[in-house]
Amino acid sequence: MRCTTDALAALAVAGLVIGTLVADPASAATPDTPSPPQTSPGDLKSDGPTQPAKVQDGQYTDKNGDPTYHVTDGGKKIDWYTMSGYLRYNANCIVCHGPDGMGSTYAPSLVDALKGMDYAHFAGIITGGKKDVNASQELVMPAFGDNRNVMCYMPDIYTYLRARADGVVGRNRPADHEAKPAAFTKAEDVCMK
Ligand code: HEC
Repeated sequence: MRCTTDALAALAVAGLVIGTLVADPASAATPDTPSPPQTSPGDLKSDGPTQPAKVQDGQYTDKNGDPTYHVTDGGKKIDWYTMSGYLRYNANCIVCHGPDGMGSTYAPSLVDALKGMDYAHFAGIITGGKKDVNASQELVMPAFGDNRNVMCYMPDIYTYLRARADGVVGRNRPADHEAKPAAFTKAEDVCMK
């Protein structure tokens, strides 16, 4: 089956929305039966300025429902989605934005750009691209809307770059990561089909 751009974008967002609905008893169909917490508050604590508010199948989200990192062991251990984002960044973005999101002569530093950029804004740029018409040199950020290797991993890439922007994940490959959740593999299979 050939997915359309919109379908892929919807899939990438749907994973998060479903996660939020399931984890949040207030918005569930039966509000009087709260679901048990996924982890104790201690397990949710992350290194860095942004703290996750929830974890669902190994995917962490902040209080706004945006994907975020879970970093422990003094920056050495990251959640699986952040690790996946690191790998996808290196496969699809590094050629223009440079190693570790540091920027190049052609494309801006994403370590700077991601400071304060919410997920919806990020997703819009990745899906539709961006063109700086005022620059003396024509700068083009390609639209990745029909590229599954990017669209299926958009929250992952966002999470990795957010960790870089927050200064909680350093340069180079992170030393250790949490186990790959079964839900990740399942969602990946569905999206990449
Ligand atoms: C072909 C080169 C190229 C590739 C590949 C590329 N980008 Fe870009 N990107 C650019 C350029 C050039 C800009 C600046 C465009 C502008 O200023 O209008 C940009 C801008 C951006 C911005 C907006 C930055 C800001 O300050 O608003 C984000 C976010 C971004 N890219 C993320 C990514 C991600 C994530 C990937 C990998 C999935 C990626 N880019 C792959 C060239 C690229």
